[in-house]
Amino acid sequence: MTQDAAIALTSAAAGNGPLALEATGLSKDFKLGHGAILHAVRDVHISLYKSAVVALVGESGSGKSTVARMLAGQERPTAGTIALDGEPVDVRTGRAFRRYKSQVQYVFQDPFGSLNPVHSVGYHLARPVKLHQGRDVDVKKRVIELLEQVRLTPAAQFEPKYPHELSGGQRQRVSFARALAAEPNVLLADEPVSMLDVSIRLEMLNLLDDLRKRLHLALLYITHDIASARYFADEVLVMYGGQIVERGPAEEVTQQPAHPYTQLLIASAPDPDNLGSVLRSGNSAPRARGTGSGPAATGCPFSNRCPLADDKCRAENPALHQLTAVRAAACWRLSEAAPALANGTA
Ligand SMILES: Nc1ncnc2c1ncn2[C@@H]1O[C@H](COP(=O)(O)OP(=O)(O)OP(=O)(O)O)[C@@H](O)[C@H]1O
Ligand code: SF4
Ligand SMILES: [Mg+2]
Repeated sequence: MTQDAAIALTSAAAGNGPLALEATGLSKDFKLGHGAILHAVRDVHISLYKSAVVALVGESGSGKSTVARMLAGQERPTAGTIALDGEPVDVRTGRAFRRYKSQVQYVFQDPFGSLNPVHSVGYHLARPVKLHQGRDVDVKKRVIELLEQVRLTPAAQFEPKYPHELSGGQRQRVSFARALAAEPNVLLADEPVSMLDVSIRLEMLNLLDDLRKRLHLALLYITHDIASARYFADEVLVMYGGQIVERGPAEEVTQQPAHPYTQLLIASAPDPDNLGSVLRSGNSAPRARGTGSGPAATGCPFSNRCPLADDKCRAENPALHQLTAVRAAACWRLSEAAPALANGTA
């Protein structure tokens, strides 16, 4: 599917609210020295709608954080455009970047490294409130409100605490509160629960989901764990070797995956029919295993691990092919990998 066709594909997240952030043809190359170039992200299209969750799923090194950093304005794309509320974004000027940052917030995976140990919780929250909300705002009142929003209560007791006095989950709640201080429309949550104890992961995902609903946030949830993506995402984008290899409604993609890589991910999950319980039990889905190592440098990136790979797969990289109004997969051999979907009989 060409880039234009990608735009024609309806996002499974589109029903919840208006389009907030849209990235088209997003690519990032890194120069590695000796003239080598790493295509870390290739031609990615993402649409984030208010009140909806899009999950970006893929194993380590697939390019998820690079996508998030570009969406957050922290990394300049090699190619592609980003539009916020329909307006093309140019983050090269300081004022435009500040405005964009107030609307698009990024939460990192590491709740330990992301807070400064010498500053209190109140300080971490007061700073962005002052920066983004101007002088008239009652900073103290707003900090208390933010703590209550992330259920750190009684808020007055948490405000003077320092990061070392908090658990991992409490720190991640402070990170969420800090992101919300700017009153953003878009929240980019990069593996927000992967470093937390399994016993509190579900609670944290429920908190994110609750915040998304109450504040009408457009949420990008990044994870290597397709179980958690199914648990609360509207649309799933499966990433491999820097490109989106499959996209569609979370429920459909996880119940009936079309791409051989997604099939491998689902098959590797301990209990594909009861993926929500995986979070509760602590049996986080393992990263998919295959025969090869990293993505193939030429042809389909999955060709050195795919059981269906043939000469064409090793020579040419397939574009996304639209399967239904809301689903697409990038594979030359969909009629064998997912016959019912490819023949339109699913
Ligand atoms: N600044 C950089 N310079 C060179 N290579 C980079 C840079 N940042 C990322 N990469 C490479 O780009 C690829 C994608 O990295 P990225 O961090 O986006 O992956 P990821 O999907 O977020 O992985 P993880 O699940 O481990 O967080 C990797 O091969 C990584 O080594
Ligand atoms: S294009 Fe070929 S190698 Fe790639 S996923 Fe499809 S069948 Fe496998
Ligand atoms: Mg990452």
